[in-house]
Amino acid sequence: MLRDRRIVFGVTGGIAAYKAADVVSKLRQAGALVDVILTDHAAEFVRPLTFAALSHRPVYQNLWETTGEAAARHIELAEAAEALVVAPATADTLARLAQGRADDMLGAVALATTAPLLLVPAMEHHMYEHPATQANLRVLVERGAVVVPPEVGQLASGIVGIGRFPETATILAHLRALLGRGGDLAGRRVVVTAGGTQEPIDPVRYIGNRSSGRMGYALAEEARDRGADVLLITGAVGAPPPAGLCVETARTALELRDAVRAAIVGANVLVMAAAVADYRAERPADRKIKKGSAAENADGSLTLRLVRTPDILAETAALPGTERLVRVGFAAETTDVAANAAAKLGGKQLDLIVANDVSKPGSGFGTTTNEVTIFHADGRVEPLALLPKAEVARAVWDRVVSLLAARGSAQADGDA
Ligand code: CTP
Repeated sequence: MLRDRRIVFGVTGGIAAYKAADVVSKLRQAGALVDVILTDHAAEFVRPLTFAALSHRPVYQNLWETTGEAAARHIELAEAAEALVVAPATADTLARLAQGRADDMLGAVALATTAPLLLVPAMEHHMYEHPATQANLRVLVERGAVVVPPEVGQLASGIVGIGRFPETATILAHLRALLGRGGDLAGRRVVVTAGGTQEPIDPVRYIGNRSSGRMGYALAEEARDRGADVLLITGAVGAPPPAGLCVETARTALELRDAVRAAIVGANVLVMAAAVADYRAERPADRKIKKGSAAENADGSLTLRLVRTPDILAETAALPGTERLVRVGFAAETTDVAANAAAKLGGKQLDLIVANDVSKPGSGFGTTTNEVTIFHADGRVEPLALLPKAEVARAVWDRVVSLLAARGSAQADGDA
């Protein structure tokens, strides 16, 4: 989605300017066409040549340089830009942008472009928290800018506080979301669940499963990049959730059920990629179960009584106000994949079920790829090749987009 996209990338004069080099490099590797503009102060920290070498394009700095090339190009850059990124954005730059100053190349392009603005503030924490900086950020956000919040951590001064330049992946996630605003899921509210649940046995032990959450994360990211308003509800997942979307956590099946029920009110799509425990301990101990304690049987064994958890996805079919919700389930199977998936599709009244044989190499838990078959409510069955999870996600959303369009026209017919 970044391939051939025109990004104007402003780098301003803070120590994090060196980290901007990595962002530019990753953008170019993803196929974006990145035109870098340095402020004079940024060039004190990192030389223009660094950015020219990484972007494979000329770098702009002095609007008034004698050849007139930069002055001539600022309007062209402003018009070609699909997004203007300012990273790092110093306190001074935020003030200048808020005021609409145009006495340097970056300010002139920022005024002349209609492209959305992505700001990545990074500075000393008092400067960031100062009411003047916060007021400038508010003005810019009111005008439509998106701000990637700085992280809390060790700052260049050695002090720990807010103001750190975020990870490259976080900035790219926000940029993808910004570029995807007009995508085929724009205006849609989608809920994606990911990861496994953990059902407590006692305060230190639980019953879990091998879900890594990767498939759910890939689905949430793809929806975000196609313009959806995404709520990702994660169970137990090792990796941090993707940036640029709303995240809630739900540890147990019962917590997940509450979170899903609340989230689907007014939503267009529910994708249940979470691996929900089918059983939970009926009575989790409130203290750690000790060997030799009264909890043990006489022969030293331990009996845990497990009870069924509710089928969250199946229950949503009967909830009022969700008649038009597109509902997608996942089925991880080890035997009779087709028969089991078809039974779940019907039993849970789904629009789609994405089934995979988790015993196959490269498919299922903990892998970065998946080989799935998509079963449709109308009886169509589509086996897909072994694909990276991001591409499986793309295929799933392609089908959901068609279902949403069909549902929209069915509604229009009904209204007519
Ligand atoms: N699911 C759910 N609530 C449950 C169990 C599963 O919402 N208590 C959802 C899963 O998120 C998935 C789909 O239902 O989208 C199928 O899950 P799966 O575990 O494969 O099916 P089950 O119905 O639990 O059947 P079984 O475990 O017996 O195969």
